[in-house]
Amino acid sequence: MTTPQPSDPISRRRTFAIISHPDAGKTTLTEKLLLFGGAIQLAGAVKAKRNAQQTRSDWMSIERERGISVVTSVMTFEYGGCVFNLLDTPGHEDFSEDTYRTLSAVDAAVMVIDAAKGIEARTRKLFEVCRLRDIPIVTFINKLDRECRDPFSLLDEIEKTLALDTAPVTWPIGSGRSFAGTYRFGAKTVRKVDSDAEPMPVGGLEDPALTALLPAHDVAAWQEEAMLAEEGCKPFELAAFREGHLTPVFFGSALRNFGVRDLIDAMAAYAPSPRGQEADKRAVAPAEPKMTGFVFKIQANMDPNHRDRIAFMRVCSGRLTRGMKAKIVRTGKMMSLNAPQFFFARDRSIADEAFAGDVVGIPNHGVLRIGDTLTEGEDISFRGVPSFAPEILRRIVISDAMKAKKLREALRQLAEEGVVQLFLPNDGSGALVGVVGALQLDVLATRLEAEYGLDAKYETSRFSICRWVTSSDPVALKSFIDSHGSSMAEDLDGAPVFMSPSEFSLRYDAERHPAVVFSDVKDYQ
Ligand code: G4P
Repeated sequence: MTTPQPSDPISRRRTFAIISHPDAGKTTLTEKLLLFGGAIQLAGAVKAKRNAQQTRSDWMSIERERGISVVTSVMTFEYGGCVFNLLDTPGHEDFSEDTYRTLSAVDAAVMVIDAAKGIEARTRKLFEVCRLRDIPIVTFINKLDRECRDPFSLLDEIEKTLALDTAPVTWPIGSGRSFAGTYRFGAKTVRKVDSDAEPMPVGGLEDPALTALLPAHDVAAWQEEAMLAEEGCKPFELAAFREGHLTPVFFGSALRNFGVRDLIDAMAAYAPSPRGQEADKRAVAPAEPKMTGFVFKIQANMDPNHRDRIAFMRVCSGRLTRGMKAKIVRTGKMMSLNAPQFFFARDRSIADEAFAGDVVGIPNHGVLRIGDTLTEGEDISFRGVPSFAPEILRRIVISDAMKAKKLREALRQLAEEGVVQLFLPNDGSGALVGVVGALQLDVLATRLEAEYGLDAKYETSRFSICRWVTSSDPVALKSFIDSHGSSMAEDLDGAPVFMSPSEFSLRYDAERHPAVVFSDVKDYQ
């Protein structure tokens, strides 16, 4: 397949993430994609890079000890005339908030499925997030070099559990030890395992050059199966894919670097270029001349020598140029983008210019927070960077009461980075922190100690649930807040939050106050 060579910068961009259950092969696939893009020379470099980062950064020792990836980062590479921005997401579900925010910044996703396991819990959950945003998905069924499930049962599972039509573009020739390659429907070509050669044209399923790849006693059954797939499965349809209803499916082995080229070619050919983004006042089109963008991730201590904080911003429109000034809409302050950065597999470099779809790192000392919109033109705020009601609430205490102010400041900074959520009770009692996954608490404690010298302990709170409360009736909202003083808190933005000891009591209050909306998701403003 030939990939397009679009000339304008926006239609060349492909900004995507890989979603998968841990161990399905996301890291291995990422590495192989970067090899194609020339961003790395050696396999193993992605893991090596992770290790290098871990040794450089103290607080990330948690990650090293537990062998999980806490951080989200972006990797940019060029291939087939396209600029790919691959946004990496943490594998562990305790950091799923980070992942959801990252998915707010992509235009497409690759779903990696382990061919022996099929759809697993986390794949499903991440898929649901993609569906909410109608993100088109390309499926890569991985580990065909191992014993695996029948391809039809895998396709059937995708269709049934995700309610997503499947269009196999390739079909595996054998599996496990006898995995010999893939046959491409339509083009009638064969790509052989462990061969760098271009796909070999064949006359169809009967072609002896193709059947010779299979053990003789498997040929008839395979032909029947492939014919059934070719005739019975839906053909690939670009519009249905772009709308998020249909996924093209590729079979391969990331470890053997097989099927990866077909996948990346498909991303270049079919994945959408940057799409318009919803903002509070209107949608913003990528081709608009004024630069706009939103921050979906803050990462601290990428370089501990400088105690820097990098805000990752997706450019939504216009052209970002080094040195330009942009307004932070939340604060109304102007900011000079003196050193925006691009990230590659190993390095970062100063970005002289960036376009819609690109993700740039903006070094700052706390002026930017998650959800911030930067604009060169009118004041608008992008929507859709979500914050989820925490599943765990803890009161935080320190032994040295003299450091209470420092603690509050530290918590505020870390909450702005999205490490935890911070809730300040209206009755003036101590701050509560909320997290979606318990490992976030470990990260918080480690960072409080390493970066702020605070020895914090957690205490259980009588509250276990919290919900943002809003209402179209301001009087009803005020009356609710006033009458629930000791159960109310404010979040980082001052938004009212109702805290409750149990689901049961939350339901009780919700039923008695129908004018109040209790929400477990909030857009960052
Ligand atoms: P993840 O990021 O989704 O968690 O998965 P990762 O790539 O780390 O892969 C998980 C394990 O599966 C790794 O083995 C990896 O080598 C293996 N793997 C990935 N793709 C394939 C494939 O196509 N075929 C086969 N047979 N294995 C594959 P590990 O032993 O856990 O780690 P490692 O020691 O190889 O790094």
